[in-house]
Amino acid sequence: MYDEPELLPPDELKRRLADKHALIPVVTDRVTADVLDAAPNLKIVANIAVGYDNIDLQAAKARGVVVTNTPDVLSEAVAEFTWGLIFAAARRIVEGDRLVRAGKWNGWALDLLLGTELRGKQLGIIGRGRIGRAVAAKAPAFGMQVVFASRGSGKRGDDEVSLDELLVSSDVVSLHAPMTPANKHLIDRKALARMKRSAILVNTARGPIVDEEALAWALKERLIAAAALGVYEREPNVLPALFDLDNVVLAPHIGSATRETRTAMADLAVRNVIAVLGGQPPLTPL
Ligand code: DGY
Repeated sequence: MYDEPELLPPDELKRRLADKHALIPVVTDRVTADVLDAAPNLKIVANIAVGYDNIDLQAAKARGVVVTNTPDVLSEAVAEFTWGLIFAAARRIVEGDRLVRAGKWNGWALDLLLGTELRGKQLGIIGRGRIGRAVAAKAPAFGMQVVFASRGSGKRGDDEVSLDELLVSSDVVSLHAPMTPANKHLIDRKALARMKRSAILVNTARGPIVDEEALAWALKERLIAAAALGVYEREPNVLPALFDLDNVVLAPHIGSATRETRTAMADLAVRNVIAVLGGQPPLTPL
């Protein structure tokens, strides 16, 4: 089971906010109705993230507080990181690193750490937002076909299939949906059991979209071949059962962590604050 994550205690956040007009939180800061009530002068919450499940948007709106996020500027960084995880899992790169470091590599062997080739395979992307589309845009370079599944009400393209069809037919399933109550444990035991035994699951979206206990079970029972995670249900804690498995790559939450992108995210958040406090409309409102 998990230990409780160490976050900035809500009381401390409330104390620091008492006389402030703007808050620039990161994903680990929970901006609840209670926190907002402690900040009567607050005009804007400028999240340094595209995801905003750490903020009670309705409570902010009800109090006339503008909320902004950082779309677009991080799409490429997260897409590149997602491909990094896809390759790491498909070609067992992290397992290989562990083998070499442990001094257990005995030299070239015909069947050493055999992985999966991506060319000719299907990439199933859940979530057709900016990041999902940026991941898809790189697929032709690796000879992969793409299908999407999303809950959006927008126009469905020819490459859009039902979630079940995506799970059943994809060789790599990559999650790029927002964290909403409806998406909690979207990938549960039932969904994992629908996937190919040779499939790889990648999550760079939000941890609670995947039922981690179910994932550990599916990986252990080899119901799917491998997984690569950059987000977790209870960050920074990771379900200990996952540590015992070789067929999962465990990265910290660093999908957007390039110098260029983190600078652009912070810059955009600050520009949103400057705009709103200067009486202008925010650049990227929610
Ligand atoms: C986001 O932007 O939502 C990321 O997860 C933060 O790195």
